[in-house]
Amino acid sequence: MGISAQSSNGKITQTQVFLITGATGAIGKAIARQLANLQDSKVVLVCRDQQKAVLAVNEIKSLTGNAQVSYELADLSRYEQIHHLAKRWQGPLHVLINNAACTPRSRQETPEGIEMQFATNVLGYYWLIDEFMAILKASAPARVVNVASYWSGGLDLNDLEFTRRSYDNDQAYRQSKQANRMLSSAFAEKLKPFQIAVNACHPGDVNSVLSNNLGFGGHETPDQGAETPVWLATHPAGQAYTGRYFEHLRETNCPFARNKQMVNALFERCANYAK
Ligand SMILES: NC(=O)c1ccc[n+]([C@@H]2O[C@H](COP(=O)([O-])OP(=O)(O)OC[C@H]3O[C@@H](n4cnc5c(N)ncnc54)[C@H](OP(=O)(O)O)[C@@H]3O)[C@@H](O)[C@H]2O)c1
Repeated sequence: MGISAQSSNGKITQTQVFLITGATGAIGKAIARQLANLQDSKVVLVCRDQQKAVLAVNEIKSLTGNAQVSYELADLSRYEQIHHLAKRWQGPLHVLINNAACTPRSRQETPEGIEMQFATNVLGYYWLIDEFMAILKASAPARVVNVASYWSGGLDLNDLEFTRRSYDNDQAYRQSKQANRMLSSAFAEKLKPFQIAVNACHPGDVNSVLSNNLGFGGHETPDQGAETPVWLATHPAGQAYTGRYFEHLRETNCPFARNKQMVNALFERCANYAK
């Protein structure tokens, strides 16, 4: 249930609280703005750069008139920062949208020594769900929307960080987006008894830092890219379905989620990753 509030016409309304990562980026900012446009929404942008965060929050507030838009700072490639974000969170969280991702052209590592795409795009998603799990359970019915991609594949459980294969940012990216889809189905099963739906989606092909690093520009607008994640975050279908994968508002067959042995193996690897 959301937070109860008395609206100006005297009706009791339920404020829905949304957390969205990567909201200084192309698709994330459009998602945050579309959510802020909803009646009785509270939107928290999780960003790593304070200057960009302030600009994004001010832009969304002025475009939507929603005063309940704020930011929190966290580098999502780092477990400690996600842990502290969850620790300082006040009140409920109804919808967690994992959207932040990176595609560095050369192999980079976090200060903890984890390859950057695996840390941000995969472990970052895993750690956010895991660290916010108690808050989501207390706020249920709740949802997790994992922004993945149709551009997925090639996951090698024996070389998640490209230490055996030579690093290629496109290959590392496709692997990370396959992992998003696999982990969505694993979390969906675990969280179903608690009325927490977990779904994954492809947003759309949008011009962004991320897509430019991969060598393409994108033919869809950020608002078009935001459409499916926002639909999963707000439409009753996003609560009724769990463990599914969507493209352009349609459920789409996901071969990665069907391989239960591999899904469970990946989940275990993430759960036991050295932080
Ligand atoms: N663009 C496409 O065509 C496309 C297609 C399929 C799927 N997707 C998916 O859509 C999502 C959004 O992509 P986009 O195209 O909007 O990318 P983008 O414009 O490059 O935005 C990426 C966002 O992630 C944030 N970020 C990256 N590393 C971070 C870290 N360590 N900690 C915190 N935040 C971090 C960035 O923050 P800074 O602003 O500080 O850099 C930025 O806000 C991704 O999950 C991507 O895989 C995109």
